[in-house]
Amino acid sequence: MVISRPSSLLRFPSPSISLYVLLVFCFSVLLFFFSQRQISEVDTGLLLPEAPPSVLEDQLWHSSSGYGYHSCVKPTQKYEAAKVVDRYITVNSNGGLNQMRTGISDMVAVARIMNATLVIPRLDKRSFWQDSSTFADIFDEPHFMQSLQRDVRIVQQLPKEFESAPRARKHLTSWASAKYYEDLSQLWKDHQVIHVPKSDSRLANNDLPIDIQKLRCRALYGALRFSSPIEELGKKLVDRLRSRGHYIALHLRYEKDMLAFTGCTHGLSEAEIEELRTMRMSTNHWKMKNINSTEQRNEGSCPLTPKEIGIFLRTLGYPAYTWIYVAAGEIFGGKKYLEDLRFNFPNLVFKNNLATREEMEEFVSHATQTAALDYIISVESDVFVSSYTGNMARAVEGHRRFLGHRKTITPDRKGLVELFDKMENEELMKKTITQIHKLRQGAPRRRYGSLPGIKGRQRLRTEESFYQNPFPECICPT
Ligand SMILES: *[C@@H]1O[C@H](CO)[C@@H](O)[C@H](O)[C@H]1NC(C)=O
Ligand SMILES: *[C@@H]1O[C@H](CO)[C@@H](O)[C@H](O)[C@H]1NC(C)=O
Repeated sequence: MVISRPSSLLRFPSPSISLYVLLVFCFSVLLFFFSQRQISEVDTGLLLPEAPPSVLEDQLWHSSSGYGYHSCVKPTQKYEAAKVVDRYITVNSNGGLNQMRTGISDMVAVARIMNATLVIPRLDKRSFWQDSSTFADIFDEPHFMQSLQRDVRIVQQLPKEFESAPRARKHLTSWASAKYYEDLSQLWKDHQVIHVPKSDSRLANNDLPIDIQKLRCRALYGALRFSSPIEELGKKLVDRLRSRGHYIALHLRYEKDMLAFTGCTHGLSEAEIEELRTMRMSTNHWKMKNINSTEQRNEGSCPLTPKEIGIFLRTLGYPAYTWIYVAAGEIFGGKKYLEDLRFNFPNLVFKNNLATREEMEEFVSHATQTAALDYIISVESDVFVSSYTGNMARAVEGHRRFLGHRKTITPDRKGLVELFDKMENEELMKKTITQIHKLRQGAPRRRYGSLPGIKGRQRLRTEESFYQNPFPECICPT
Protein backbone atom coordinates (compact mmCIF):
# COMPACT_ATOMS: atom_id res chain seq x y z
CA MET A 1 0.00 0.00 0.00
CA VAL A 2 2.99 2.29 0.23
CA ILE A 3 3.55 2.08 -3.46
CA SER A 4 0.60 1.47 -5.66
CA ARG A 5 2.49 1.06 -8.91
CA PRO A 6 5.56 -0.93 -8.10
CA SER A 7 6.34 -1.68 -11.70
CA SER A 8 6.75 1.96 -12.55
CA LEU A 9 9.60 2.12 -10.10
CA LEU A 10 11.49 -0.33 -12.15
CA ARG A 11 12.41 2.01 -14.92
CA PHE A 12 16.07 1.53 -15.50
CA PRO A 13 17.40 3.56 -16.99
CA SER A 14 14.45 5.90 -16.92
CA PRO A 15 13.37 6.90 -20.37
CA SER A 16 11.09 9.59 -19.11
CA ILE A 17 12.60 12.12 -16.78
CA SER A 18 9.36 13.80 -15.88
CA LEU A 19 7.63 10.63 -14.84
CA TYR A 20 10.70 9.73 -12.89
CA VAL A 21 10.74 13.03 -11.05
CA LEU A 22 7.04 12.80 -10.32
CA LEU A 23 7.47 9.33 -8.93
CA VAL A 24 10.42 10.29 -6.79
CA PHE A 25 8.34 13.10 -5.39
CA CYS A 26 5.32 10.90 -4.61
CA PHE A 27 7.57 8.29 -3.17
CA SER A 28 9.30 10.72 -0.83
CA VAL A 29 6.06 12.19 0.36
CA LEU A 30 4.66 8.78 1.10
CA LEU A 31 7.80 7.73 2.82
CA PHE A 32 7.85 10.76 4.98
CA PHE A 33 4.24 10.17 5.82
CA PHE A 34 4.70 6.63 6.92
CA SER A 35 8.04 6.55 8.42
CA GLN A 36 10.02 9.71 9.17
CA ARG A 37 12.66 7.58 7.39
CA GLN A 38 14.60 7.22 10.56
CA ILE A 39 16.61 4.11 10.68
CA SER A 40 19.88 5.59 11.71
CA GLU A 41 19.08 5.28 15.38
CA VAL A 42 19.06 2.06 17.21
CA ASP A 43 15.87 0.14 17.39
CA THR A 44 13.47 2.72 16.16
CA GLY A 45 11.39 -0.14 14.73
CA LEU A 46 9.37 1.56 12.00
CA LEU A 47 5.94 0.15 12.33
CA LEU A 48 4.83 0.14 8.76
CA PRO A 49 1.57 -1.58 8.01
CA GLU A 50 1.96 -5.20 7.06
CA ALA A 51 0.34 -6.06 3.78
CA PRO A 52 -2.72 -8.24 4.16
CA PRO A 53 -1.82 -11.91 4.02
CA SER A 54 -2.10 -13.18 0.50
CA VAL A 55 -0.87 -15.87 -1.78
CA LEU A 56 1.92 -13.55 -2.83
CA GLU A 57 2.90 -12.98 0.79
CA ASP A 58 3.21 -16.70 1.19
CA GLN A 59 5.35 -17.09 -1.90
CA LEU A 60 7.62 -14.28 -0.81
CA TRP A 61 8.45 -15.54 2.65
CA HIS A 62 7.76 -19.18 3.11
CA SER A 63 9.74 -22.10 1.92
CA SER A 64 7.61 -25.14 2.53
CA SER A 65 9.17 -26.35 5.75
CA GLY A 66 12.02 -28.57 4.63
CA TYR A 67 10.22 -29.96 1.56
CA GLY A 68 10.15 -33.37 3.24
CA TYR A 69 13.87 -33.48 3.94
CA HIS A 70 15.82 -33.28 7.15
CA SER A 71 19.47 -33.12 8.13
CA CYS A 72 21.17 -36.46 8.76
CA VAL A 73 24.66 -36.44 10.21
CA LYS A 74 24.74 -39.50 12.48
CA PRO A 75 27.61 -41.84 11.66
CA THR A 76 26.89 -45.27 10.17
CA GLN A 77 26.99 -48.38 12.37
CA LYS A 78 30.48 -49.37 11.36
CA TYR A 79 31.92 -46.06 12.55
CA GLU A 80 34.37 -46.53 15.39
CA ALA A 81 35.33 -44.15 18.14
CA ALA A 82 38.56 -42.22 17.66
CA LYS A 83 41.70 -43.79 19.04
CA VAL A 84 44.17 -41.99 21.21
CA VAL A 85 47.29 -41.68 19.11
CA ASP A 86 50.47 -39.75 19.63
CA ARG A 87 50.64 -38.32 16.15
CA TYR A 88 49.69 -34.72 15.72
CA ILE A 89 48.48 -32.49 12.94
CA THR A 90 49.05 -28.78 13.45
CA VAL A 91 47.24 -26.40 11.11
CA ASN A 92 47.48 -22.81 10.07
CA SER A 93 44.03 -21.85 8.87
CA ASN A 94 44.05 -19.24 6.11
CA GLY A 95 41.53 -16.90 4.53
CA GLY A 96 38.50 -15.04 5.77
CA LEU A 97 35.96 -16.34 8.26
CA ASN A 98 34.17 -18.78 5.99
CA GLN A 99 37.27 -20.08 4.29
CA MET A 100 38.62 -20.80 7.75
CA ARG A 101 35.43 -22.48 8.94
CA THR A 102 35.19 -24.85 5.98
CA GLY A 103 38.97 -25.41 6.03
CA ILE A 104 38.88 -26.36 9.71
CA SER A 105 36.01 -28.77 9.07
CA ASP A 106 38.10 -30.37 6.33
CA MET A 107 41.04 -30.68 8.70
CA VAL A 108 38.85 -32.48 11.23
CA ALA A 109 38.02 -34.99 8.49
CA VAL A 110 41.68 -35.23 7.42
CA ALA A 111 42.77 -35.94 11.00
CA ARG A 112 40.14 -38.67 11.15
CA ILE A 113 41.31 -40.27 7.88
CA MET A 114 44.93 -40.14 9.02
CA ASN A 115 44.19 -41.43 12.53
CA ALA A 116 45.84 -38.37 14.02
CA THR A 117 45.24 -35.99 16.88
CA LEU A 118 44.31 -32.49 15.78
CA VAL A 119 45.81 -29.50 17.52
CA ILE A 120 43.41 -26.51 17.69
CA PRO A 121 44.17 -24.60 14.46
CA ARG A 122 45.94 -21.29 14.46
CA LEU A 123 44.11 -18.60 12.56
CA ASP A 124 45.94 -16.68 9.90
CA LYS A 125 46.70 -13.17 11.05
CA ARG A 126 48.65 -12.08 8.05
CA SER A 127 45.89 -12.12 5.47
CA PHE A 128 44.25 -8.86 4.49
CA TRP A 129 41.79 -9.44 7.31
CA GLN A 130 44.51 -8.26 9.70
CA ASP A 131 42.69 -9.72 12.65
CA SER A 132 44.40 -10.83 15.84
CA SER A 133 41.50 -13.08 16.92
CA THR A 134 42.42 -16.53 18.14
CA PHE A 135 40.38 -19.69 17.65
CA ALA A 136 38.81 -19.29 21.09
CA ASP A 137 37.85 -15.67 20.36
CA ILE A 138 35.75 -16.77 17.43
CA PHE A 139 34.67 -20.29 18.26
CA ASP A 140 33.47 -22.06 21.37
CA GLU A 141 36.62 -24.09 21.86
CA PRO A 142 35.47 -26.46 24.65
CA HIS A 143 32.33 -27.23 22.66
CA PHE A 144 34.38 -27.89 19.54
CA MET A 145 36.62 -30.38 21.33
CA GLN A 146 33.84 -32.08 23.21
CA SER A 147 31.32 -32.48 20.44
CA LEU A 148 33.88 -34.17 18.19
CA GLN A 149 35.18 -36.43 20.94
CA ARG A 150 34.04 -39.61 19.25
CA ASP A 151 35.41 -38.53 15.89
CA VAL A 152 38.83 -37.08 16.45
CA ARG A 153 41.01 -36.44 19.43
CA ILE A 154 41.57 -32.70 19.66
CA VAL A 155 44.05 -30.97 21.96
CA GLN A 156 44.58 -27.29 22.65
CA GLN A 157 48.31 -27.38 22.17
CA LEU A 158 51.02 -29.65 20.97
CA PRO A 159 52.24 -31.42 24.13
CA LYS A 160 55.62 -30.12 25.35
CA GLU A 161 57.43 -33.40 24.70
CA PHE A 162 56.48 -33.24 21.00
CA GLU A 163 57.74 -29.77 20.36
CA SER A 164 61.10 -31.08 19.24
CA ALA A 165 59.76 -34.29 17.71
CA PRO A 166 60.43 -34.98 14.01
CA ARG A 167 58.05 -32.76 12.11
CA ALA A 168 56.99 -32.69 8.48
CA ARG A 169 55.76 -29.48 6.88
CA LYS A 170 53.31 -30.45 4.18
CA HIS A 171 51.53 -28.35 1.60
CA LEU A 172 48.48 -30.47 0.90
CA THR A 173 47.04 -30.87 -2.57
CA SER A 174 43.78 -29.01 -3.25
CA TRP A 175 40.60 -31.08 -3.47
CA ALA A 176 42.42 -34.23 -2.43
CA SER A 177 40.83 -37.67 -2.11
CA ALA A 178 40.73 -39.94 0.93
CA LYS A 179 43.32 -42.10 -0.83
CA TYR A 180 45.71 -39.14 -0.93
CA TYR A 181 45.55 -38.83 2.84
CA GLU A 182 45.84 -42.57 3.40
CA ASP A 183 49.02 -42.56 1.34
CA LEU A 184 50.24 -39.52 3.21
CA SER A 185 50.11 -41.63 6.37
CA GLN A 186 53.52 -42.91 5.25
CA LEU A 187 54.86 -39.75 6.82
CA TRP A 188 54.05 -41.14 10.27
CA LYS A 189 56.87 -43.64 9.87
CA ASP A 190 59.43 -40.89 10.26
CA HIS A 191 57.46 -38.04 11.82
CA GLN A 192 55.23 -37.55 14.80
CA VAL A 193 53.96 -34.14 13.82
CA ILE A 194 52.70 -32.93 10.45
CA HIS A 195 52.31 -29.21 10.02
CA VAL A 196 49.80 -27.99 7.45
CA PRO A 197 50.39 -24.34 6.49
CA LYS A 198 47.11 -23.84 4.58
CA SER A 199 43.71 -25.39 5.25
CA ASP A 200 41.37 -24.11 2.54
CA SER A 201 39.87 -26.60 0.06
CA ARG A 202 42.25 -29.41 0.97
CA LEU A 203 39.56 -32.05 0.59
CA ALA A 204 37.53 -33.05 -2.46
CA ASN A 205 33.83 -32.27 -2.64
CA ASN A 206 32.83 -35.71 -3.81
CA ASP A 207 33.72 -39.41 -3.74
CA LEU A 208 34.66 -39.53 -0.09
CA PRO A 209 33.42 -42.16 2.40
CA ILE A 210 29.94 -41.31 3.67
CA ASP A 211 31.15 -41.16 7.27
CA ILE A 212 33.77 -38.59 6.33
CA GLN A 213 31.16 -36.44 4.60
CA LYS A 214 28.84 -36.61 7.59
CA LEU A 215 31.73 -35.73 9.85
CA ARG A 216 32.40 -32.59 7.81
CA CYS A 217 28.79 -31.56 8.43
CA ARG A 218 28.97 -32.33 12.16
CA ALA A 219 32.11 -30.24 12.34
CA LEU A 220 30.82 -27.23 10.39
CA TYR A 221 27.21 -27.07 11.51
CA GLY A 222 27.56 -28.46 15.02
CA ALA A 223 31.05 -28.26 16.46
CA LEU A 224 32.13 -24.89 15.06
CA ARG A 225 29.69 -22.87 17.12
CA PHE A 226 30.73 -19.26 17.59
CA SER A 227 32.02 -18.09 20.96
CA SER A 228 29.34 -16.97 23.38
CA PRO A 229 29.83 -13.20 23.03
CA ILE A 230 29.29 -13.55 19.27
CA GLU A 231 26.38 -16.00 19.58
CA GLU A 232 24.67 -13.82 22.18
CA LEU A 233 24.91 -10.56 20.28
CA GLY A 234 23.99 -12.34 17.04
CA LYS A 235 20.84 -13.72 18.63
CA LYS A 236 19.96 -10.35 20.11
CA LEU A 237 20.27 -8.66 16.72
CA VAL A 238 18.22 -11.35 15.01
CA ASP A 239 15.47 -10.93 17.64
CA ARG A 240 15.57 -7.19 17.13
CA LEU A 241 15.08 -7.59 13.39
CA ARG A 242 12.36 -10.20 13.77
CA SER A 243 10.39 -7.97 16.12
CA ARG A 244 9.88 -5.69 13.11
CA GLY A 245 8.56 -8.42 10.84
CA HIS A 246 10.05 -10.45 8.04
CA TYR A 247 13.49 -9.52 6.86
CA ILE A 248 15.78 -10.21 3.93
CA ALA A 249 19.50 -10.55 4.53
CA LEU A 250 21.35 -9.15 1.54
CA HIS A 251 24.99 -9.99 1.08
CA LEU A 252 25.96 -6.95 -0.93
CA ARG A 253 29.35 -7.29 -2.57
CA TYR A 254 30.14 -3.78 -3.67
CA GLU A 255 33.43 -3.04 -1.98
CA LYS A 256 36.18 -1.14 -3.75
CA ASP A 257 38.57 -4.09 -3.94
CA MET A 258 35.84 -6.34 -5.29
CA LEU A 259 35.05 -3.91 -8.10
CA ALA A 260 38.70 -3.24 -8.84
CA PHE A 261 39.47 -6.96 -8.96
CA THR A 262 36.53 -7.91 -11.20
CA GLY A 263 36.88 -4.80 -13.37
CA CYS A 264 33.18 -4.11 -13.07
CA THR A 265 32.45 -0.43 -13.57
CA HIS A 266 28.87 -0.36 -14.80
CA GLY A 267 27.17 2.87 -13.80
CA LEU A 268 30.29 4.45 -12.29
CA SER A 269 31.82 7.84 -13.08
CA GLU A 270 34.98 8.29 -15.14
CA ALA A 271 36.95 9.28 -12.05
CA GLU A 272 35.78 6.21 -10.17
CA ILE A 273 36.60 3.94 -13.08
CA GLU A 274 40.11 5.35 -13.12
CA GLU A 275 40.42 4.94 -9.34
CA LEU A 276 39.50 1.26 -9.62
CA ARG A 277 41.83 0.74 -12.57
CA THR A 278 44.73 2.23 -10.63
CA MET A 279 44.06 -0.12 -7.74
CA ARG A 280 43.96 -3.12 -10.06
CA MET A 281 47.17 -2.18 -11.81
CA SER A 282 49.02 -1.70 -8.55
CA THR A 283 47.88 -4.93 -6.91
CA ASN A 284 50.50 -7.46 -7.96
CA HIS A 285 48.71 -10.67 -7.10
CA TRP A 286 45.70 -9.82 -9.28
CA LYS A 287 46.64 -11.33 -12.60
CA MET A 288 43.91 -9.89 -14.83
CA LYS A 289 44.80 -6.32 -15.68
CA ASN A 290 42.86 -5.37 -18.80
CA ILE A 291 39.22 -6.09 -18.30
CA ASN A 292 36.33 -5.03 -20.50
CA SER A 293 33.60 -4.21 -18.00
CA THR A 294 30.81 -4.58 -20.56
CA GLU A 295 31.88 -8.07 -21.53
CA GLN A 296 32.45 -9.03 -17.93
CA ARG A 297 28.97 -7.87 -17.03
CA ASN A 298 27.29 -9.55 -20.00
CA GLU A 299 28.82 -12.85 -18.93
CA GLY A 300 27.23 -12.48 -15.51
CA SER A 301 30.63 -12.09 -13.90
CA CYS A 302 29.93 -8.79 -12.16
CA PRO A 303 28.32 -8.31 -8.78
CA LEU A 304 24.86 -6.83 -9.19
CA THR A 305 24.91 -3.13 -8.31
CA PRO A 306 22.84 -1.84 -5.38
CA LYS A 307 20.47 -0.35 -7.95
CA GLU A 308 20.10 -3.65 -9.81
CA ILE A 309 19.50 -5.57 -6.59
CA GLY A 310 16.77 -3.11 -5.65
CA ILE A 311 15.04 -3.53 -8.98
CA PHE A 312 15.45 -7.28 -8.85
CA LEU A 313 13.83 -7.67 -5.44
CA ARG A 314 11.00 -5.33 -6.36
CA THR A 315 10.26 -7.31 -9.52
CA LEU A 316 10.05 -10.47 -7.45
CA GLY A 317 7.31 -8.73 -5.52
CA TYR A 318 8.96 -7.69 -2.25
CA PRO A 319 7.13 -4.58 -1.07
CA ALA A 320 8.94 -1.29 -0.57
CA TYR A 321 8.63 -1.39 3.21
CA THR A 322 10.48 -4.73 3.48
CA TRP A 323 13.30 -4.73 6.00
CA ILE A 324 16.62 -5.47 4.40
CA TYR A 325 19.64 -6.27 6.51
CA VAL A 326 22.72 -5.37 4.48
CA ALA A 327 25.60 -7.70 5.28
CA ALA A 328 28.54 -5.98 3.67
CA GLY A 329 31.89 -4.37 4.02
CA GLU A 330 32.34 -0.74 3.08
CA ILE A 331 30.22 0.01 0.04
CA PHE A 332 32.04 1.76 -2.79
CA GLY A 333 31.02 5.34 -3.38
CA GLY A 334 29.88 5.89 0.21
CA LYS A 335 26.18 6.63 0.41
CA LYS A 336 25.85 7.44 -3.27
CA TYR A 337 25.15 3.99 -4.68
CA LEU A 338 23.34 2.80 -1.61
CA GLU A 339 20.80 5.51 -2.27
CA ASP A 340 19.87 3.67 -5.46
CA LEU A 341 18.90 0.69 -3.34
CA ARG A 342 17.26 2.81 -0.67
CA PHE A 343 15.11 4.34 -3.40
CA ASN A 344 13.32 1.01 -3.79
CA PHE A 345 13.76 -0.18 -0.21
CA PRO A 346 13.94 2.63 2.35
CA ASN A 347 14.16 0.26 5.32
CA LEU A 348 17.81 -0.69 5.06
CA VAL A 349 19.52 -1.89 8.20
CA PHE A 350 23.24 -2.23 8.90
CA LYS A 351 25.12 -3.70 11.83
CA ASN A 352 25.94 -0.26 13.05
CA ASN A 353 22.40 0.99 13.23
CA LEU A 354 20.99 -2.29 14.48
CA ALA A 355 23.43 -2.66 17.36
CA THR A 356 24.42 0.03 19.83
CA ARG A 357 27.91 1.42 19.93
CA GLU A 358 28.45 -0.33 23.26
CA GLU A 359 27.30 -3.64 21.88
CA MET A 360 29.68 -3.36 18.94
CA GLU A 361 32.62 -2.11 20.95
CA GLU A 362 34.40 -5.40 21.51
CA PHE A 363 33.90 -6.51 17.89
CA VAL A 364 34.63 -3.52 15.69
CA SER A 365 38.37 -3.97 15.47
CA HIS A 366 38.00 -7.65 14.58
CA ALA A 367 36.82 -8.11 11.01
CA THR A 368 36.39 -11.84 11.51
CA GLN A 369 34.07 -11.35 14.46
CA THR A 370 31.87 -8.80 12.76
CA ALA A 371 31.74 -11.17 9.78
CA ALA A 372 30.47 -13.82 12.19
CA LEU A 373 27.62 -11.50 13.21
CA ASP A 374 26.71 -11.04 9.53
CA TYR A 375 26.82 -14.78 9.14
CA ILE A 376 24.42 -15.44 12.01
CA ILE A 377 21.98 -12.77 10.85
CA SER A 378 22.13 -14.13 7.29
CA VAL A 379 21.54 -17.76 8.27
CA GLU A 380 18.57 -16.76 10.45
CA SER A 381 16.91 -14.42 7.94
CA ASP A 382 13.59 -15.20 6.27
CA VAL A 383 15.21 -14.77 2.88
CA PHE A 384 18.87 -14.66 1.93
CA VAL A 385 20.09 -13.03 -1.28
CA SER A 386 23.63 -12.45 -2.46
CA SER A 387 24.67 -10.02 -5.16
CA TYR A 388 27.71 -12.15 -6.03
CA THR A 389 29.15 -15.57 -5.28
CA GLY A 390 31.89 -16.07 -2.75
CA ASN A 391 32.83 -18.02 0.34
CA MET A 392 30.28 -16.29 2.54
CA ALA A 393 27.38 -16.69 0.10
CA ARG A 394 28.20 -20.35 -0.46
CA ALA A 395 28.56 -21.08 3.25
CA VAL A 396 25.31 -19.36 4.16
CA GLU A 397 23.46 -21.11 1.32
CA GLY A 398 24.72 -24.52 2.44
CA HIS A 399 23.85 -23.88 6.06
CA ARG A 400 20.35 -22.76 5.14
CA ARG A 401 19.84 -25.88 3.02
CA PHE A 402 21.02 -27.95 5.96
CA LEU A 403 18.59 -26.26 8.34
CA GLY A 404 15.54 -27.06 6.20
CA HIS A 405 16.03 -25.38 2.85
CA ARG A 406 15.35 -21.88 4.06
CA LYS A 407 14.59 -19.56 1.19
CA THR A 408 17.82 -18.56 -0.52
CA ILE A 409 17.55 -16.64 -3.76
CA THR A 410 20.42 -16.92 -6.20
CA PRO A 411 20.17 -14.16 -8.80
CA ASP A 412 20.80 -15.26 -12.37
CA ARG A 413 23.15 -12.38 -13.02
CA LYS A 414 23.65 -13.06 -16.70
CA GLY A 415 19.93 -13.29 -17.37
CA LEU A 416 19.21 -10.24 -15.25
CA VAL A 417 21.62 -7.79 -16.86
CA GLU A 418 20.34 -8.84 -20.24
CA LEU A 419 16.79 -8.03 -19.17
CA PHE A 420 17.77 -4.80 -17.43
CA ASP A 421 19.53 -3.57 -20.54
CA LYS A 422 16.62 -4.32 -22.87
CA MET A 423 13.84 -3.40 -20.56
CA GLU A 424 11.37 -2.52 -23.26
CA ASN A 425 8.37 -3.99 -21.62
CA GLU A 426 8.22 -3.80 -17.86
CA GLU A 427 5.45 -6.29 -17.40
CA LEU A 428 7.22 -8.80 -19.56
CA MET A 429 10.47 -8.24 -17.75
CA LYS A 430 8.77 -8.78 -14.43
CA LYS A 431 7.24 -12.01 -15.60
CA THR A 432 10.49 -13.26 -17.08
CA ILE A 433 12.51 -12.46 -13.97
CA THR A 434 10.01 -14.21 -11.75
CA GLN A 435 9.99 -17.17 -14.09
CA ILE A 436 13.76 -17.64 -14.30
CA HIS A 437 14.05 -17.43 -10.52
CA LYS A 438 11.37 -19.97 -9.68
CA LEU A 439 13.99 -22.69 -9.45
CA ARG A 440 16.67 -20.56 -7.81
CA GLN A 441 15.26 -20.28 -4.32
CA GLY A 442 17.14 -22.96 -2.44
CA ALA A 443 14.79 -25.94 -2.88
CA PRO A 444 16.30 -29.42 -2.41
CA ARG A 445 18.52 -30.75 -5.18
CA ARG A 446 21.65 -32.82 -5.46
CA ARG A 447 24.98 -31.06 -5.55
CA TYR A 448 26.09 -30.17 -9.07
CA GLY A 449 29.00 -32.14 -10.52
CA SER A 450 31.83 -30.68 -12.54
CA LEU A 451 31.30 -28.58 -15.63
CA PRO A 452 31.02 -30.63 -18.81
CA GLY A 453 34.08 -30.98 -21.01
CA ILE A 454 36.62 -30.32 -18.27
CA LYS A 455 39.20 -33.03 -17.70
CA GLY A 456 41.70 -34.07 -15.09
CA ARG A 457 42.15 -32.30 -11.77
CA GLN A 458 40.57 -29.12 -13.13
CA ARG A 459 37.32 -31.01 -13.00
CA LEU A 460 37.45 -31.09 -9.17
CA ARG A 461 37.73 -27.32 -9.09
CA THR A 462 34.50 -26.82 -11.00
CA GLU A 463 32.34 -29.08 -8.86
CA GLU A 464 29.82 -27.37 -6.64
CA SER A 465 31.26 -26.98 -3.16
CA PHE A 466 30.28 -29.64 -0.64
CA TYR A 467 29.57 -26.90 1.87
CA GLN A 468 27.32 -25.02 -0.53
CA ASN A 469 25.04 -28.02 -0.80
CA PRO A 470 25.70 -31.00 1.46
CA PHE A 471 22.93 -32.94 -0.32
CA PRO A 472 22.65 -35.95 -0.38
CA GLU A 473 25.18 -36.92 2.32
CA CYS A 474 23.86 -34.72 5.15
CA ILE A 475 20.28 -34.08 3.95
CA CYS A 476 17.93 -37.06 3.69
CA PRO A 477 14.30 -37.69 2.80
CA THR A 478 12.05 -37.78 5.85
C1 LIG B 1 43.42 -45.90 10.86
O1 LIG B 1 42.99 -46.89 11.77
C2 LIG B 1 42.11 -47.84 11.25
C3 LIG B 1 41.61 -48.71 12.37
O2 LIG B 1 42.66 -49.17 13.17
C4 LIG B 1 42.81 -48.62 10.14
O3 LIG B 1 41.95 -49.56 9.58
C5 LIG B 1 43.30 -47.64 9.07
O4 LIG B 1 44.02 -48.30 8.08
C6 LIG B 1 44.14 -46.54 9.67
N1 LIG B 1 44.38 -45.55 8.64
C7 LIG B 1 45.55 -44.98 8.41
C8 LIG B 1 45.61 -44.03 7.28
O5 LIG B 1 46.52 -45.25 9.08
C1 LIG C 1 34.09 -3.83 -24.62
O1 LIG C 1 33.27 -4.85 -25.16
C2 LIG C 1 32.12 -4.34 -25.84
C3 LIG C 1 31.22 -5.53 -26.17
O2 LIG C 1 31.97 -6.59 -26.70
C4 LIG C 1 32.55 -3.53 -27.03
O3 LIG C 1 31.41 -3.02 -27.69
C5 LIG C 1 33.43 -2.39 -26.54
O4 LIG C 1 33.92 -1.66 -27.62
C6 LIG C 1 34.58 -2.90 -25.70
N1 LIG C 1 35.27 -1.76 -25.10
C7 LIG C 1 36.56 -1.60 -25.20
C8 LIG C 1 37.10 -0.38 -24.53
O5 LIG C 1 37.29 -2.38 -25.79
